[in-house]
This record gives sequence, C-alpha cells and structure tokens, in this order.
Amino acid sequence: MRRAVCPGSFDPVTNGHVDVFERAAALYDELVVAVLVNPGKAGFFPVEERMELLRAAVAHLPNVTVDSFTGLLVDYCRAHDVPVIVKGLRAVSDFEYELQMAQMNRELAGIETLFVPTAPQVGHLSSSLIKQIATFGGDVSGMVPAAVDDRLRERAAQAGQQ
Ligand code: PNS
Repeated sequence: MRRAVCPGSFDPVTNGHVDVFERAAALYDELVVAVLVNPGKAGFFPVEERMELLRAAVAHLPNVTVDSFTGLLVDYCRAHDVPVIVKGLRAVSDFEYELQMAQMNRELAGIETLFVPTAPQVGHLSSSLIKQIATFGGDVSGMVPAAVDDRLRERAAQAGQQ
C-alpha cells in the first residue's frame, strides 16, 4: 500500500491545494490531508471548520482522507506509517523553505518529500491573499472550492454587520 501525506494549515483550502491533492491522489493508494493544529495560533477558521471544508473539497477523491496533527510532521508520519510527504510548489520562493524542511524531515526520520509544481492557472493562489480579498468584499469564487467561498462570504457579511 503506497501512502502519502499532504500537510498544511489550509486556512482555508484553495483550488491550488485541490490541484495538488488530485495529482497526489493519482500517484498513491492512500493520501492523507493533514491539518497542522498550532495551539499558539487560532487561525482564521478553527481547525474543525478547516477539516470540514477540506472534506467537502476532496469528496470526489475516494482515496483521500482528512486528519489533523500537532507537533512534528515526522512523528505523525511514523505513527501512521506514511513514508512520503507531498508538497505543492508555486514558485522558487516556496522552494527555498520547502527544500530546507524536506532535508530536515529526511534527516529526522528518513521521510521523503515529493514536490508537485502547481498548475500555472492556480500558481498565484495563497490562503492569506484569498482571506484578505474576501474580507474586503472581493470575488474569490474561482479560486476556492464552493463551500469555502460560501463560508468566506458569510464571514465577510458578519464582519460588515459589526
Ligand atoms: O500550509 P503551511 O502553513 O505552509 O504548512 C506548513 C507545515 C504544516 C507543513 C509545516 O509547518 C510543518 O510541517 N509543521 C509541523 C511541525 C514540524 O514538523 N516542523 C519541522 C519541519 S522540518
């Protein structure tokens, strides 16, 4: 059984993430999308809501599950018998940090990292830009899954009422 994990904050999931999930799901028997729980950082969406939005976004991929983790990613990989991390790369700027983490994760636990270059149509997407645009009433409907778009609109409407 070939298993891989796609880790991240996914606050919220974007169409760029989904592109990576779809391509990784085609390469492995099982893919786990794992949301980092950072006790020191609340995030825009709570982790449970991020996971719910992720489950909706991967509902069309039968070999993909959604989970969360705290602490080191390599410990999660060891505990769940996952030998490969899959990461999307948008630009060279992503690569510098990702390369360092990949080398560290291999040194710590022998876990390999597979980099997937994102499709050019989604290479400019980032969760933080999307939150910023949606908060100020911009249209992000083509950039995120429908459920995320709905949730961002609700949040923007709530913020507008305060
Ligand atoms: O979506 P993000 O925020 O870029 O994801 C970063 C993430 C969660 C993949 C990274 O911060 C991570 O692996 N955190 C877990 C803690 C850890 O293992 N740190 C050592 C990395 S070498």
